[in-house]
Amino acid sequence: MKRLLLSTLFGIFGAIFLISFCFADLSGSLDEQHILLRIKPEGEVNVEAGGQPVKSAGVTKPVVTDIGQQRYEKYCHICHEGGLAGAPKFGDKSDWAPRISEGMDTLFEHALKGYKAMPPKGTCMDCSDEDLKKAIEYMISHSK
Ligand code: HEC
Repeated sequence: MKRLLLSTLFGIFGAIFLISFCFADLSGSLDEQHILLRIKPEGEVNVEAGGQPVKSAGVTKPVVTDIGQQRYEKYCHICHEGGLAGAPKFGDKSDWAPRISEGMDTLFEHALKGYKAMPPKGTCMDCSDEDLKKAIEYMISHSK
């Protein structure tokens, strides 16, 4: 009788032990997923959505919601990324400082109508005035 009780007890403890092992293993693999998510290459992670990747049509892509950034990346970066034809370079403080001091109105006027090698509207013909201002602001805010 004692033996039966003992082996039942052992059985129960054994089962509990095994079950807790399963749970430990499960949470371990969840942690691993989180770590993998955190060390994902930049660009694959949408920071605005709190670091969660956004799936669109099966592709993990960052979502650009800033209209200024959208316009910049589509139209302006062609010249302003590397300083083509003397364009003030994106992120270059010394390129932008004298231009920023002209004031936003002048910058906008030049961007809208064109200025020396800078084409009118920076080739973005479907940009509204507001879009153009946002694109300039985007460039400026990353260059001072
Ligand atoms: C084809 C090349 C090209 C593209 C595309 C282009 N730019 Fe430029 N941009 C230039 C050049 C070159 C200058 C410098 C002109 C100068 O001062 O000689 C310039 C200058 C500027 C300036 C400074 C003007 C000033 O008063 O000093 C602003 C602001 C500007 N661009 C905004 C934009 C925006 C916004 C876009 C996109 C919508 C854009 N550019 C697209 C070539 C380009």
